[in-house]
Amino acid sequence: MYFIGVDLGTSAVKLLLMEENGKIANVVSKEYPLDFPHPGWSEQKPEDWWTQSLAGLKELTASFDKSQIAGISFGGQMHGLVVLDDQDKVIRPAILWNDGRTGKEVEYLNNVIGKDKLSEYTANIAFAGFTAPKLLWMKANEPDLFAKISKIMLPKDYLAYMLSGVHCTDVSDASGMLLFDVKNKCWSKEMMEICSVKEEQLAKIFESYDVVGTIRPDVAKELGFPETVKVIAGAGDNAAAAIGTATVGDGKCNISLGTSGTIFISSKNFCVDENNALHAFAHADGNYHLMGCMLSAASCNKWWMNDIVGTDDYAGEQSQITKLGENNVFFLPSLMGERSPHNNPDARAMFIGMSMDTTRADMTQAVLEGVAFGIRDSFEVARSLGIKIEKTKICGGGAKSPLWRKIMANVLGIPVETIESEEGPGYGGAVLAAVGCGVYASVEEAAGKLVKVIGTEEPDADLVAKYEERYAKFKKLYPTVKVLFGDK
Ligand code: XUL
Repeated sequence: MYFIGVDLGTSAVKLLLMEENGKIANVVSKEYPLDFPHPGWSEQKPEDWWTQSLAGLKELTASFDKSQIAGISFGGQMHGLVVLDDQDKVIRPAILWNDGRTGKEVEYLNNVIGKDKLSEYTANIAFAGFTAPKLLWMKANEPDLFAKISKIMLPKDYLAYMLSGVHCTDVSDASGMLLFDVKNKCWSKEMMEICSVKEEQLAKIFESYDVVGTIRPDVAKELGFPETVKVIAGAGDNAAAAIGTATVGDGKCNISLGTSGTIFISSKNFCVDENNALHAFAHADGNYHLMGCMLSAASCNKWWMNDIVGTDDYAGEQSQITKLGENNVFFLPSLMGERSPHNNPDARAMFIGMSMDTTRADMTQAVLEGVAFGIRDSFEVARSLGIKIEKTKICGGGAKSPLWRKIMANVLGIPVETIESEEGPGYGGAVLAAVGCGVYASVEEAAGKLVKVIGTEEPDADLVAKYEERYAKFKKLYPTVKVLFGDK
C-alpha cells in the first residue's frame, strides 16, 4: 500500500509517496507565486494550490501502481484565511500566516476584548497572522465580500475539500484560528460572536488522523486513483512536521527552519503559557503542544542569498564562514514583522555592528545566527515555564545546512538531531494517512517505528560560552530599537 503526504507550503506544495514500511518512494515539488500586494501583506491564490497539487499528484504517482494508493493526508501552512461563497467559489485571495495587515484588529482583540478573555476562550491571544483578526479585517474593509462568505477554511482544508467534498479541519490547525477552544477541542461560541461568524460557516472538526471521507469520483478518475482512497484530516505544518520527526508524547522538541522558524514542544497534557508568548495548540497525535513561531527564518537566508548577494550557491557562501561565535555583526530577522516573542507586525529586520573590515561572510553568518537567536528567544520562554528541553530534532529547508545545524546546537546548548526523512510535514502527512487507514494503532506507534535519527550535532562547550555572550547582546537589540517599529 502507498500513502501520500501533501505539504502545502508557502513557496511550493511538496508531495511525498510513502510505502507501508515508511520508505519514501517518491517526492515531487510544485511552486506557486506568493504575492505581497502592500508592504506587510501576504497572499496566495487557493486555486494555484489546487492546480499545482493536482499536477504534483499526477507526477508523484505516474510510475507507480496507483491501485495500491490507500490514503492521502496533509501538513499545511497554518492560519491562512480561505473564504468560499455559496457556489464554492473562492471569494478573495487567501490571507496568509505571515500577513501583517491586522494590527488594528489585533489591538482590538487583545486590548478591548482583552487577553485574559481570549486566553480563557481559546488558550491563546491575538497575533496578526491568526485567522480571527483577518475575519474582522474583512468585515471592516471588504464588507461586501464578508457578507458573501459561506465557508471559512484553512489552506490545507481547501485541498481536502476539493479532494473529498467534505468541509473539514483538524484540531492542530483549528487551534491557530483563535476561534477554537483548544482545551475542549470545539469552536468557541464567544469567539464566533466576536467575529460575527456562524458555526455553519466553520468546518467540521476531526483529530488529525481521522478519516474525513473518500476521494471524489471525478477527482479519482482524473488522477487514475481508486475511488476507495481515503482522505485523512491532516495537520498544521508544524504539527505534521513534529509527527514526521517523532516529536510526540511528552516533552519532546522539534525545530523547523522553513519560511518560518518554529520551536515545537509536545505535551501529553493541555498547558498554557500564562503570558501567552508561546502558542498553546492541540497536537496531531491526539495530545497538545506549545509553540513559538518566528515569521522569517530560512526565508531570511533566501532573501540575503538570492535577492541581495545574488547567488544560489548557499553552501559556497557558507564555506567562507570560519569564525563561529566571533562575529561582531548582528541581524534582527524580522523581515515580515515578528510573532514570537515580540508580537509586532510592524517590526522590521536590521543589521548592526558592521565596521570597515566586515566581510560578506560575516553578514551571511549574522543572518544564520540571528535566526538561531530568535529561536533561542522562544526556547527561553519554554525554560521559564519549567520545561526542560534536553535535545531537539530539526527539519525544514534550513536544516539541510550542516553549518546552520551547528550554530543552532551551540546557540541553544543542546544536541540537535537530524532524521532520515528531511520532508517533515510531508512525511508527517503520509504517517497520518497510514494511521488513518489502520496500518498503525496510533500516531505515537507509527512515529516510533518509522522515524529514524541519522545524525546528531553536539554542542561544544567553548562555542556555547561564546554564543551565550553574543545572545546576551542580541536579546537587547529589539528592546533598544522597538520604538522605531511603533512598539512602546
Ligand atoms: C505557525 C506559522 C507558520 C506557518 C508556516 O504558527 O504561522 O509556521 O504554519 O507555514
